[in-house]
Amino acid sequence: MLDRRHPHITMPDVPPAMDAEQAAVEAHARDKELTKHHFEPHEHPCVRIEHLMKTFDGETQVLTDVNLTVWPGEVVCVLGPSGSGKSTMLRCINLLEKPTAGHILIEDNEITGHLGTKEVNRLRQNLGMVFQSFNLFPHLSAKGNVMIGQTKVLKKSKDEAEAEALKQLDAVGLLDRADFKPAQLSGGQQQRVAIARAVAMHPDILLFDEPTSALDPELVRGVLDVMRDLAENGGMTMIVVTHEMGFAREVADRVVFMEGGVVVEQGTPEMVFDNPQNPRTAEFLGSIG
Ligand SMILES: Nc1ncnc2c1ncn2[C@@H]1O[C@H](COP(=O)(O)OP(=O)(O)OP(=O)(O)O)[C@@H](O)[C@H]1O
Ligand SMILES: [Mg+2]
Repeated sequence: MLDRRHPHITMPDVPPAMDAEQAAVEAHARDKELTKHHFEPHEHPCVRIEHLMKTFDGETQVLTDVNLTVWPGEVVCVLGPSGSGKSTMLRCINLLEKPTAGHILIEDNEITGHLGTKEVNRLRQNLGMVFQSFNLFPHLSAKGNVMIGQTKVLKKSKDEAEAEALKQLDAVGLLDRADFKPAQLSGGQQQRVAIARAVAMHPDILLFDEPTSALDPELVRGVLDVMRDLAENGGMTMIVVTHEMGFAREVADRVVFMEGGVVVEQGTPEMVFDNPQNPRTAEFLGSIG
């Protein structure tokens, strides 16, 4: 297929999204060796990415052919060098970026294609995202930041939203900082507020884009502990782009290595860290390890 606006770029023809039953059968067969997460024979993946492509400005092809399935309750850590397309993939999953071609299905519903604002908003409610740079409202307290999505988007009453905010701030160890503004909090505390804010919306899936890489080293631990607790006790489905190899090894059910806009290799942490099959994975792990 030729991109009409940019005739020098040739887009590969992407097949239609797979039938849900068939996709689940194939994903079962493939993923049972690749993840520590246990899934039942009747289950379907909650995220299904097929031949995802993203090109910016018709020029820069960032995702060339990403294929990935994620199961309900699974914790997937995505590793890869800078510029490999990790953030772009996450941003495509919650439609902060519009995929150029290919398919993303959330609970077997295709989100690529033409969705109205209402449908996009509903999708985003179901997909929490935690960014590297926290993105808290500076004029609101920690509690206010955790409440605002609940009142504005979920239309909860102020009392309900406040009770939930205090519960989630307690869960991240910040109950005593509920009335502090972001500027009065450390980076690690701000990021824990951002996690509490995402969890308070009760999404099915949480996306994390390098949540600890803007933090001073001594603040990283506290944020990772909160994420570990969500993974192990919260039963949350999590896709985590991270450079924290210790976290990936200990907490991930599956590790995905991306480079050049494709998933180069994936498997359990033991498979990927201890016995990488692709030389590029080995080189990357060697360079940071
Ligand atoms: N809005 C944009 N317009 C043009 N190019 C972009 C845009 N966003 C990202 N890119 C390019 O896409 C490539 C992949 O970027 P992306 O942010 O997904 O990488 P990454 O794997 O998350 O890297 P990092 O580890 O540095 O965060 C980069 O080469 C980047 O320059
Ligand atoms: Mg990134």
